[in-house]
Amino acid sequence: MNTKEIKEEIQRLKKEKNAVILGHYYQIDDIQKLSDYVGDSLALAEKALNVDCDIIVFCGVHFMAETAKILNPSKKVLLPDMEASCSLAESCKGEDFAKFKAQYPDNMVISYVNCSAEIKALSDLICTSGNAEKLVNSLPKDQKIIFAPDKNLGGYINSVTGREMVLWNGVCMVHDAMQAEEIIKLKVKYPQAKVIAHPECNGALLKVADFIGSTKAMLKYIEKSDSKQFIVATETGILYEMKKNNPDKEFITLGDGGSCACSDCSYMKMNTLEKLYNCLKDETPEILMSDEMIEKAKRPIIRMLDMSKQLGII
Ligand code: 13P
Ligand code: SF4
Repeated sequence: MNTKEIKEEIQRLKKEKNAVILGHYYQIDDIQKLSDYVGDSLALAEKALNVDCDIIVFCGVHFMAETAKILNPSKKVLLPDMEASCSLAESCKGEDFAKFKAQYPDNMVISYVNCSAEIKALSDLICTSGNAEKLVNSLPKDQKIIFAPDKNLGGYINSVTGREMVLWNGVCMVHDAMQAEEIIKLKVKYPQAKVIAHPECNGALLKVADFIGSTKAMLKYIEKSDSKQFIVATETGILYEMKKNNPDKEFITLGDGGSCACSDCSYMKMNTLEKLYNCLKDETPEILMSDEMIEKAKRPIIRMLDMSKQLGII
């Protein structure tokens, strides 16, 4: 089959099987175009809770598909490539984290959604980059907190909230590799451009950013901004949505500086059209979890969704 035929088959199978494709902004353009809903991890988690279908095909990474299964256990949740992981999830294994947590018995545990179900089950509250600051701010000032697994996002939240959360030592391999020096070189070349960065970037890079925010917050910032040029310090998949919504604006990524090509997440890009087609056709690979794990991991996610509603974030 050629690409056009594969795309047609995906559409046909989707209807035949009453399936819905949820696609993350970091997926390749063709997958975003075929998705019924495209969004960041918070929006997709919320969608997974309410979506009306028999099968969810999650085009993103493993922890995202797992979250969809936890929120919607009666549905079949498929992930085109089971190997599509995340360096943050990989950095934080259950046994190690349980030992770490035991050192701070008075601390509540807030985990970034980029972690395994096992870590979610050991957490009191889940957050995303889109709601972390508001959730943390809504907690009593004297509440002691462990934040896992992203030390960059945790460090950023500490800096904007004045907290001293204890941080697990994990990073996103894509955002952490982006260098402030590279941004400065691009700023020299494009002096009018605004620098927008995801809070998973390292602290030195965040210091040279004009705007720091989640994927969705960056999209909003671009739409409202009078600026015509943006240096984008995040994963390249998001450029599809940025360009679609802002055809008159220019987006420069770190690879454009010539000295690195570090803006692609190799895990996110493991999902291909062929794998999506095979996954819909064969209804595998499927996310399978024990009822006990689903129950334990669900509590802190539901708490996040409830708090986010109360705070007017969703
Ligand atoms: P969002 O929470 O903005 O969707 O980001 C997910 C992610 O993997 C960032 O690298
Ligand atoms: Fe994980 Fe980073 Fe890839 Fe996002 S971009 S899925 S945080 S490795």
